[in-house]
Amino acid sequence: MSSVAASVSSGDGGGKPPVPTHVAIIMDGNGRWAKARGLPRAAGHERGVEALRKVVEAAGEIGIKYLTVYSFSTENWRRPASEVSALFGLLKTYMQKDLNRLRKEGVKITIIGRREGLPKDIADLVAKAERDTKDNDRFYLNIAFNYGGREEIVRAVRKVATEAAAGRVEPESITEDMFADYLDTRGMPDPDLLIRTSAEYRLSNFLLWQIAYSEFVFLDVLWPDFDRGWLEKAVMVYQERERRFGAVTQGEL
Ligand code: IPE
Ligand code: IPE
Ligand code: MG
Repeated sequence: MSSVAASVSSGDGGGKPPVPTHVAIIMDGNGRWAKARGLPRAAGHERGVEALRKVVEAAGEIGIKYLTVYSFSTENWRRPASEVSALFGLLKTYMQKDLNRLRKEGVKITIIGRREGLPKDIADLVAKAERDTKDNDRFYLNIAFNYGGREEIVRAVRKVATEAAAGRVEPESITEDMFADYLDTRGMPDPDLLIRTSAEYRLSNFLLWQIAYSEFVFLDVLWPDFDRGWLEKAVMVYQERERRFGAVTQGEL
């Protein structure tokens, strides 16, 4: 049993904080990892996929149920075309190589982000990954690809506005819960823990709606070096935190 799992109860009154149900990760630092070794940036991205494979496995073993990883942002189109195509190629390889194994392991894959503008081969693979794993419920892997938090919110607003204009939605009936159903993460709990690697302290447009009450843990490790030990460290930091959700701590009342 891992030290994290061992140090944790199910939150059933044993006094120990639970393992986070949903962990979101900004996987950053591939380029710097490669540069430090005199390698092309694409080599860093390749090693980044290796780290992702290990982390998906470790997350399931630790007891995390949902893992949402940021793999390509709507702003990453600003990178050189060669790097963009290397990143697309890696998603494609991951989908082709790992899909069968993930499906058998009970992983449900969801790709969040903008589908329009994706090359057809990628769009087809994304659709296949979701179709093939749609009935799985052991572990939920969300890959944020061509994802931007603002884009997701605006896309949701457009859908709600279209419904309202057609008379199917009353503006007064729009609530936070109802609006969340129009986001790409519909039906999922919000992230309990958000991790960013590479010692950068910003959100870079990730999950802006969903992280309203997430705990943030920033780590000084480049993503290709991230492993189970780092994930456990982040979970332990999370377990030391006190989540108040705007209320007052028991002892202070
Ligand atoms: C994260 O690594 C991967 C993506 C953003 C796609 P970076 O490529 O951003 O690596 P750094 O931040 O330049 O080191
Ligand atoms: C965020 O990393 C996006 C992903 C990890 C996919 P970036 O490297 O693109 O973020 P900035 O540009 O440093 O904010
Ligand atoms: Mg970066």
